[in-house]
Amino acid sequence: MITSLSYDISYKMKLNLKKNWKRNHHCGDLNATYENKEVILNGWIKKIRDHGHLLFIDMADESGLVQIVLDTNQDHSFNVKDLHYDAVISIKGLVKKRPKEMQNKKIPTGMIEIPVEDLLLLSSCKAPPFREGDSINENLALKYRYLDFRRRSDLKNNLKIRHRITQIIREELSNLEFYEIETPILYKSTPEGARDFLVPSRNQKGSFYALPQSPQTLKQLLMISGFGKYFQIAKCFRDEDLRSNRQPEFSQLDLEMSFVEEKDIKDITENLLKVLWKKIKNETITDFPSLSYQTALDRFGTDKPDLRNPLELKILKEETIKQSGLKILQTSLKENHQTKSLFVKNLQLSRSRLDQLNDLTKSLGGGGLLWIQKSKEGLKSPAKKWTTEDQLNSLYEASGRSKNGLCLICSGESSIVNTVLSQLINIIGKEQNLIDTQKTRFVWITDFPFFEYDSKKKKWTPLHHPFTKPQENDLKTIDTVDPKDLAQVKACSYDIVCNGHELGGGSIRIHDSSLQKKIFSLLGLSDKEIDEQFGFFLEALQYGTPPHGGIAWGIERLVMLLTNSENIRSTMAFPKSASGACLMSAAPSEVHLENLLDLGISISRKKD
Ligand code: AMO
Repeated sequence: MITSLSYDISYKMKLNLKKNWKRNHHCGDLNATYENKEVILNGWIKKIRDHGHLLFIDMADESGLVQIVLDTNQDHSFNVKDLHYDAVISIKGLVKKRPKEMQNKKIPTGMIEIPVEDLLLLSSCKAPPFREGDSINENLALKYRYLDFRRRSDLKNNLKIRHRITQIIREELSNLEFYEIETPILYKSTPEGARDFLVPSRNQKGSFYALPQSPQTLKQLLMISGFGKYFQIAKCFRDEDLRSNRQPEFSQLDLEMSFVEEKDIKDITENLLKVLWKKIKNETITDFPSLSYQTALDRFGTDKPDLRNPLELKILKEETIKQSGLKILQTSLKENHQTKSLFVKNLQLSRSRLDQLNDLTKSLGGGGLLWIQKSKEGLKSPAKKWTTEDQLNSLYEASGRSKNGLCLICSGESSIVNTVLSQLINIIGKEQNLIDTQKTRFVWITDFPFFEYDSKKKKWTPLHHPFTKPQENDLKTIDTVDPKDLAQVKACSYDIVCNGHELGGGSIRIHDSSLQKKIFSLLGLSDKEIDEQFGFFLEALQYGTPPHGGIAWGIERLVMLLTNSENIRSTMAFPKSASGACLMSAAPSEVHLENLLDLGISISRKKD
């Protein structure tokens, strides 16, 4: 037990902190150069080590922590028992060098401590639900998000980086004479493929605002107004299933420019990304390759390929499939079916791991995974039972490009084959450490199909949004009599993908009202629906609309990429849980009956 210190701390508590308790220094900034300087610090108690009448306390603020020493034998104005973990205090004292044997070189303030001359308890703290270092489940962390921040500097740091990112974006775009213009949150449906969040109107009972899924129509209207360059860090709302990179409420860097072509938007995007990566990560980005949507699907099975991963797919030709003699592959010779292989050089997996990958294939809707492994012991494959060694070898060679390795083949509907094999590319790439996680690889994806057939709803839907311009060569096809031709129409749209994440998407827009109306009707809207939902917009397009285009990036995804975060929740202050709830405030929640009456709403409950 330490009962005395090498320096003198005998003093009378003066209690003058009551008059002037505000800090003049931060805890984490102090070091030996401050020796004998008087400091006032504000912060939280993090740890108390009791050495008889001497209490050694770790005191922390947003800058870090410092050790303070309190002599409980001295007079003081508070009850020592109130000095709990996370109580908020203000202290005054002279910075002292610690005795040699008590110095701690591992922390920045480890050479010094502050014997307390005066201490004011600013706020007591009841026993918190968790402390630093406790491992807790995410729901509890989300319920007490404000306390989670206090103990997790990584989380806090992400928000500080987020602040810096939006600051750089604002600086850079302002220098290029973009104007930041806010657009309304209470608005009308802006279709981006998700369900709308609706807000009932009190003044017009039975009518609803929709929260914007993006400011798409609004930014286009600003182009008609003559603002040539607009941007906004915009809040967007989409009622859709959540994923590790999706939240119902998120932010976009939304931008739009008049009198531009695709290249202009890409140039702005690339330059801004280069600046961000340099300033935040000190990484120099030079390369922005481009892949057509079809090439991306063919080579990687996804329109969000991670170019850090060297694995690629190969489409097996009809001839190869026929020569293999394998009936299970013949299905792919049907319309819209494919057989593709993923070849991994020098890899040999165990039978049980291959069975797991086969189970995964089935869980994703695939019929199964055919594997062939080649090593110095020869060929191994379950298909040996159904075909000759030579045929199997030709199939292996058609898929592989190296002597030894593993070849995984999947056959069936092309969308399923792509889903399965793109997942396997990710899984094997990660498991085999093939991905250089220190690097950043961007890729533009272009030439998207305009329309996608939704077989459940039995109608065509836009792959991006309905305001995208179809490519010039396909404009004639829009007037087709055979709706199947719509699948061939390509859009003037582009996505920017980074390390396998869709970071942003944009397009050149339709600036002709009649073409816009035609697109709405091809998407199955009646004239009445077009008029009700988009009449104002179609009218606006008739008042001298400049050709225009733009893009929007997900701010949270940008922060994820720049902070190497795995989950979007680590990039926002108060995220929603997987079921879209705010666990802290218990939103969404029921409201008082009188609120509903005001809005003219009654709730009908289904019986369980
Ligand atoms: P899009 O719908 O592609 O385009 O959205 C642009 C970017 O916003 C991010 N994003 C999301 N981030 C988190 N949670 C979500 N639920 C979510 N949904 C989208 C993604 C995405 O790339 N109006 C068009 C843009 C344009 O055409 O200019 C639009 O919103 O990073």
